[in-house]
Amino acid sequence: MSITSTIKTILIVGATSGLGEQFARRLHAMGKKVIITGRRAERLSFLKAELGTKIDAYQWDITDLDKVSSRASEITTAHPDTNSIFIMPGFGSILNFLDPSTSTDAKIIAECNTNVTAQMLLTRAFMPHLASVAAKGLPASYLLMGSGMGFVPNGTFPVYVATKAAIHALAVALRQNVSKDKNQNVKNNLSVVEVVAPYVATDFDKEFRNPAGPQPMPLEEFMENAMAQLALMGEDGKPPKEVAVGSAQLRLGLWRNSVGKYMKEVGMEG
Ligand SMILES: NC(=O)c1ccc[n+]([C@@H]2O[C@H](COP(=O)([O-])OP(=O)(O)OC[C@H]3O[C@@H](n4cnc5c(N)ncnc54)[C@H](OP(=O)(O)O)[C@@H]3O)[C@@H](O)[C@H]2O)c1
Repeated sequence: MSITSTIKTILIVGATSGLGEQFARRLHAMGKKVIITGRRAERLSFLKAELGTKIDAYQWDITDLDKVSSRASEITTAHPDTNSIFIMPGFGSILNFLDPSTSTDAKIIAECNTNVTAQMLLTRAFMPHLASVAAKGLPASYLLMGSGMGFVPNGTFPVYVATKAAIHALAVALRQNVSKDKNQNVKNNLSVVEVVAPYVATDFDKEFRNPAGPQPMPLEEFMENAMAQLALMGEDGKPPKEVAVGSAQLRLGLWRNSVGKYMKEVGMEG
């Protein structure tokens, strides 16, 4: 079964703009119940009012690290039918580690907290809920937002590339956890998917957009491609492990055909 065919209710953490907003809009248009979160209350209210029914919204800053667990449980308790969760937040900054004036400790901590630490805590908070759905024999999915830069680092964004490499490792490790679960239903029904984007036209680059540099993929083009892949079933009858678009597809393929192949050979597939 594909991811989109099995989603009944999806929580998209970080859906006030960009890719998260577009996934929310498209899945809602397919009749799914969509729960959106983000820090910007006005964007949440706007989207909730526009989409009308089958939508709920929560203002939530995931970098309030000591509240991640309680906020996550508040949402899954209010929406126990949530069978898919997509973790979207992330940002990248230009800095040079040889020139400390290009950054601050606080900025680096904020980037790591948003892109990695909070995502680990979110994963700890949400995976048991999804596993309990899967244990009942129902399909459940957990989606993480990766980047082509997590596979082929660009030193202009040295913190960001490291955080996105971490997200890829997390996705692989989570699949290994699922494959070792004692409950066969969890093994069969719980999918972990990494969505791997190339440079796409969103607010992501608002601080460093360069009209003379490489241009981003139009948002619509990315979404068409990503949604088409989310509607596919893998060779083993399960959803694909990764959904990668444009140059990210090539970069992911380099990993899958080398490290991924090796891991399969030594019985550590993830
Ligand atoms: N666009 C690209 O070129 C590209 C390429 C590869 C990967 N990605 C990844 O795609 C993801 C989405 O980025 P985007 O391009 O759609 O940019 P975006 O428009 O800036 O979207 C980021 C989303 O994350 C939310 N968010 C950020 N920090 C948050 C926090 N502390 N707590 C809660 N929500 C937070 C934002 O909501 P609020 O501001 O309302 O909190 C917003 O909804 C990121 O993980 C990014 O790294 C983007």
